[in-house]
Amino acid sequence: MAHEDPTTKTLAELGVTDAAGVARLFADVKQEFANQTSKTPDAANWDRLHLAWAGRKSGVLTLITDNWLKPASPELKRAVGQELNALKAHVEQTLKAVRAQIDAASSQSAAARDRLDLSLPGVLRPVGSRHPLQQTIEEIERIFLSIGYTVVEGPEIETPYYNFEALNIPEHHPARDAMDTFYLASPPGAGEYVLRTHTSPVQIRTMEKQPPPVRIIVPGKVYRRDNPDATHGYMFHQIEGLAVDLDITFCDFKGTVEYFVGQFLGPSVKTRLRPSYFPFTEPSVEVDASCHLCGGAGCRVCKFSGWIELFGAGMVDPAVYGFVGYDAKGLSGFAFGLGVERLAMLKYGLDDMQLFFQNDARFLSQFP
Ligand code: FA5
Repeated sequence: MAHEDPTTKTLAELGVTDAAGVARLFADVKQEFANQTSKTPDAANWDRLHLAWAGRKSGVLTLITDNWLKPASPELKRAVGQELNALKAHVEQTLKAVRAQIDAASSQSAAARDRLDLSLPGVLRPVGSRHPLQQTIEEIERIFLSIGYTVVEGPEIETPYYNFEALNIPEHHPARDAMDTFYLASPPGAGEYVLRTHTSPVQIRTMEKQPPPVRIIVPGKVYRRDNPDATHGYMFHQIEGLAVDLDITFCDFKGTVEYFVGQFLGPSVKTRLRPSYFPFTEPSVEVDASCHLCGGAGCRVCKFSGWIELFGAGMVDPAVYGFVGYDAKGLSGFAFGLGVERLAMLKYGLDDMQLFFQNDARFLSQFP
């Protein structure tokens, strides 16, 4: 209808002079309308169709009214009026029906989209788990709780007195070197503070608070100026142990160590003690375990020695009792300091302790 659109001309201009001519004209218009609505349009096309045919200003129906009906000769006016009314009804009805079809289709597709498919798997919400270090700490706590120890904690920000002096580590001792220790910048007159380098200060804090007997373990974070690598962190965890009573012997110490190692690494694992040095124990030892992977025959993990270094320990140096006001006469005891990361690595066969701190769910999810 774009070219030579008959609806823009009058009947006189189109040369239509009788009712039959009018009927032919309307039949053509109807045919054109049928062509345009033969395929169900989408919502936007429907709007365009509606405007083109029923639009008030320049829709086909308006054009026919203005150009055919109004200027029609009196003889033709009736025929044009009738045809126009019929066309109007047809166009309006058809457009309405098409619109209903479009709406039904779109609500059908919305329903399809929203359909609940009960066969689909549910939304997985992964459940977290305790960190492997926390699990290791809790397991060690359980072992010592079962033989009468209690769990105590102490501050991570310590005074040099508790971290060093009261543990018989005097000012000149290399362990106090600023290279090994994080000193805090404190306000003038506030005294010196360090991030504790071990959990041993809690030995002192506990003995200051209570008389013997003492049987405690102390889990917690400690800090050192160590560069991170496969076996070092600048923050790591220790579990301190301390038993002080009237008649504790080196045999008690050895028996306790053997019980712990057997429970933690397995009953077939043997222990051995090597001489060592700590300022607050005398004698001091390093506790080794027979390699739980190769049974002592030698493998990569134990560097083919059959033994794995576990932790430092020893009998409490009587000098320490002097710092806490205990009467050293008749008192004896032992202490040990476990490195939690190293023990967890051993237990789970890990070769890099940085895994504990990288927060990689693929690693952590292996410890449900
Ligand atoms: C001590 O810290 C002593 N307080 C242990 C002790 C307590 C001895 C009571 C006697 C009596 P040492 O510096 O060796 O000792 O550290 C203890 C353990 O911490 C080590 O065996 C090791 O397992 C772990 N460790 C030390 N440095 C690091 C580090 N940078 N990263 C991870 N673990 C470490």
